[in-house]
Amino acid sequence: MSEIILSSRDLHLYYGKKEALKGIDLSINKGEITAMIGPSGCGKSTYLRSLNRMNDLIPNVTITGSVMYKGKDIYSPKTDTVDLRKEIGMVFQQPNPFPFSIYENVIYGLKLKGETNKQVLDQVVEESLRAASVWDDVKDKLHQSALSLSGGQQQRVCIARVLAVDPEIILLDEPTSALDPVSSGKIENTLLELKEKYTMIIVTHNMSQASRISDKTAFFLNGDLIEFDNTKKIFMNPSQKETEDYISGRFG
Ligand SMILES: Nc1ncnc2c1ncn2[C@@H]1O[C@H](COP(=O)(O)OP(=O)(O)O)[C@@H](O)[C@H]1O
Ligand SMILES: [Mg+2]
Repeated sequence: MSEIILSSRDLHLYYGKKEALKGIDLSINKGEITAMIGPSGCGKSTYLRSLNRMNDLIPNVTITGSVMYKGKDIYSPKTDTVDLRKEIGMVFQQPNPFPFSIYENVIYGLKLKGETNKQVLDQVVEESLRAASVWDDVKDKLHQSALSLSGGQQQRVCIARVLAVDPEIILLDEPTSALDPVSSGKIENTLLELKEKYTMIIVTHNMSQASRISDKTAFFLNGDLIEFDNTKKIFMNPSQKETEDYISGRFG
């Protein structure tokens, strides 16, 4: 039986007067990879950011409706957004390591939590970098700047940084679109391994990536969720004409 871990109901989001999300109802199952696809500007990043309140950081945003995480409305004034973003972590399109060492990047969140025990920190660094499949690349240079790594390695350090605070859900906004095909393939494999322990939601422009790695796919268009179903169904036999036109490359 699948268990819903995160869901939105009638979620509307406005940037000033512009309605970027027009009432999104969507439920995410624990342990699945959900892909979000659709043409540029259709609201994928906006929706993803609304799932861990990253839009709170943007001025003039109005949100109505609800996002429930483990039975609680994340938009309740009681929500601690710092804790929320540890439970629901995020990886961006451009690798964005801090200008510190690899080691300091990975332990950043734990240090904020007050962890100072070197043994604990060392262990989390190794486990997180291993889980992000970048340990062998960096184990001999943990105290070098993360910025000295390749783009693909930087992105995997960013994934390790998210893993280090023990999240439940990982949001990924086009995490491979700035990378070469080899690095992208490595990240895809890493995400498939991480599926054992985490729920993931990934925005991607790459249709074959969506079909390779996701269980479910959501197709967005102009701020609406047009279709949400098993990935196989979306790609083999979509119910909506707009979905079919998009995946067959007729627009976007
Ligand atoms: N910070 C912002 N301020 C104003 N409008 C924005 C902002 N971010 C996105 N938008 C607008 O909201 C719509 C959805 O954008 P976005 O969520 O980035 O789409 P996608 O990720 O699918 O390309 C677009 O029309 C975009 O111009
Ligand atoms: Mg986007």
